[in-house]
Amino acid sequence: MKERLEEILGNAKKEIESIKTFNDLLNLKSRFLGKKSEIKELMKFLPTLPLEERPDFGKQINDVMKKVESLLDAAEISLNEKDYHNTVKSSQFDYTMPGRPLQRGTLHPLTLIQEQIEDVMISMGFQIADGFDIEDEYHNFDALNHPPEHPARNLADTFYVKSNTVIYPPPSPQKSQSEIGTTGWGQNSLLLRTHTSPVQVRVMESFPPPIKIISIGRAYRNDRFDLTHSPVFHQCEGLVVDEGITFKDLKDTINILLKKLFGNDCKSRFRPHFFPFTEPSAEVDVTCFNCSGKGCPTCKYSGWIELFGAGMVHPNVFDMIGIDSEKYTGFAFGCGIDRIAMLKLHIPDIRLLFENDIRFLKQFSIRG
Ligand code: PHE
Repeated sequence: MKERLEEILGNAKKEIESIKTFNDLLNLKSRFLGKKSEIKELMKFLPTLPLEERPDFGKQINDVMKKVESLLDAAEISLNEKDYHNTVKSSQFDYTMPGRPLQRGTLHPLTLIQEQIEDVMISMGFQIADGFDIEDEYHNFDALNHPPEHPARNLADTFYVKSNTVIYPPPSPQKSQSEIGTTGWGQNSLLLRTHTSPVQVRVMESFPPPIKIISIGRAYRNDRFDLTHSPVFHQCEGLVVDEGITFKDLKDTINILLKKLFGNDCKSRFRPHFFPFTEPSAEVDVTCFNCSGKGCPTCKYSGWIELFGAGMVHPNVFDMIGIDSEKYTGFAFGCGIDRIAMLKLHIPDIRLLFENDIRFLKQFSIRG
């Protein structure tokens, strides 16, 4: 028997060496290891042997089977390799060529500016707030002290959303549904927010002072596209409410943000202005970063670039929301993210920020 087993192993080695195709491999597999193979037949003799010889013989059979199995496995691997090389050769695939480089994604320039502003403000203890792109007239205008006849409510300036459903009813205890939002579609109409200032209202409605937030997001106005205008644009809103907040706190906060964004040499100028929801109000200019204030086409030869709207929260706004305007004061500011991105990254046309042309976007891979 032992000799027979060795003979089988010898045959198997020879035959497996001469395997050429996957078909040969399958045939040999069944011939040497299949149910009707000689090895399996030899196994049937096991019970006929004297007891003391059985373990030894069983082990010999097993060893031979394992050896044949591993020979067949090796043959299969080398067949696969040959097959792969043949395919590669016949398809004339040049595996010495370098692979296609992986494209690395880049952050959108607006995201870069957003993250930079958020980092600076978070370092000053601000929290990030979020609002709704679809707002109602109450939060966008009424609660921000816009009189019913204010021109910004006009259909020529504001996109209204045609809907009979008021999704976010004003929670104001001071005003009833019929008293508010009298322009637009004649009730508390839904609209695409025209600025990020309604986030101020939503935060003050939801959290008691002290409040210290910024919120960056989209705003919409019925403007035609040109080099510097787009019907959708991005704003950053800031709001601080606490006891004893002063105009100096506003100036300091904006000045720190400006220096972090545009460098320590950047100077600011606060000009009196009017916003319905702040009193006093100001517009903030910065020294032109193109000419450092000497005068150039970017700043229209004035040396200054207007960047922020700002002011102290109007007591009417506090009253409408139900915050004690005797106890608390606050400041708010807003600025255009698209404008900052364009000036800082030398982007000549606002439309480039919305077209998602990869050739343009991939130029801004470096943070800040
Ligand atoms: N919301 C104002 C605008 O869009 C900017 C602003 C924000 C002004 C906060 C004052 C305070 O022009």
